[in-house]
Amino acid sequence: MLGSLLTLIGLYSLACWLYENFRTPVLLVVKGIQQLVQANRHSLSQKYGPWAVITGGSDGIGKGYAHFLAGQGMKVALVARNESKLKKVAEEIRNKHGVETKVVVADFSKGEAVFDHLEKELVSLDIGILVNNVGVINEKPIRLERMEKRLLWNLINVNIGAATLLCRILIPAMKQRKRGLIINISSLSSLAPTPYLTVYAATKAYMTSFSVGLREELLPFGVECQTVSPGYVRTSMTEYFASAEGQESSLSKRVVNVADMIRYAGFTISKTDSTTGHWSHGFQTGVLNALPPSLRLRMFSKLYTQLLEEYSDDKQKQL
Ligand SMILES: NC(=O)c1ccc[n+]([C@@H]2O[C@H](COP(=O)([O-])OP(=O)(O)OC[C@H]3O[C@@H](n4cnc5c(N)ncnc54)[C@H](OP(=O)(O)O)[C@@H]3O)[C@@H](O)[C@H]2O)c1
Ligand SMILES: *[C@@H]1O[C@H](CO)[C@@H](O)[C@H](O)[C@H]1NC(C)=O
Repeated sequence: MLGSLLTLIGLYSLACWLYENFRTPVLLVVKGIQQLVQANRHSLSQKYGPWAVITGGSDGIGKGYAHFLAGQGMKVALVARNESKLKKVAEEIRNKHGVETKVVVADFSKGEAVFDHLEKELVSLDIGILVNNVGVINEKPIRLERMEKRLLWNLINVNIGAATLLCRILIPAMKQRKRGLIINISSLSSLAPTPYLTVYAATKAYMTSFSVGLREELLPFGVECQTVSPGYVRTSMTEYFASAEGQESSLSKRVVNVADMIRYAGFTISKTDSTTGHWSHGFQTGVLNALPPSLRLRMFSKLYTQLLEEYSDDKQKQL
């Protein structure tokens, strides 16, 4: 009696885990094969519309998406702060892929003020894909009360405010055209509250919840929404963390390159509504998902308490 009850619970848990972690890979294989045998394949711009807007499109993962989408024949609009950097990347993209580009200078840390400007710059474009990629992180683990108030507010405005308001601005036209795709960049951090990166992890949990909820809202209108939750990718954002243990540390060797991530994440576009963005991050996520949330929290808590000590100002003063 007890034995069969335990078996039942075990099978139920296994089935839930298998569903959660293998739904995306199975979908990718099925849709990938479908695409191969399909006679008239639609390009991304035929399916969603000619323009792609990428926030934080001048560096790291955003720049990777910009190159990928331009390589698929889409026109790209890049949004970030540094105009000369934006122009340089836009020129690179035009030269390499021969597509039209546009740059929009905007600083999301300024809050609500920037969105009038963005609306003016963007509403006239027929936007097929919006990549809500922009994001910042505190450069090292730090106690909440020691963070500058302005930096805290920036984290919220940039990581959460930008995606939320841009969706509000761009969704009406997508709904009217009955096509479009919103790609929201969350993070593996969204899976576990993380002390000393508390606000960053919480903004990412927001992104996942926002993205999944919004997807359900948009489903009846022919507009798609994908959530991407990567682990460590080598960009300027992770420079600090990856280099802390030295360039050749086991951690930094396991960090995925933007090019590898984008090859995988790009393949998942229009095939699945949720992905880690790289198969290796799929494994990491699967392992994390197999742990009960309380144990996951203990692990993260231990790891980041260690990191807090390693990065503490006192230690830096000693160096
Ligand atoms: N790297 C990882 O390991 C990793 C893992 C999981 C999730 N993610 C997520 O992926 C996204 C991209 O990260 P990344 O590593 O590619 O970052 P990154 O290399 O630091 O690039 C950030 C981009 O955002 C722009 N940006 C920064 N602050 C801005 C602001 N206030 N207003 C407008 N634009 C701003 C930057 O250009 P300007 O400086 O010119 O503004 C740059 O184009 C983030 O949402 C991040 O949370 C990253
Ligand atoms: C903007 O980008 C350029 C070129 O990448 C760089 O040389 C410059 O220092 C950046 N400006 C600021 C204010 O960060």
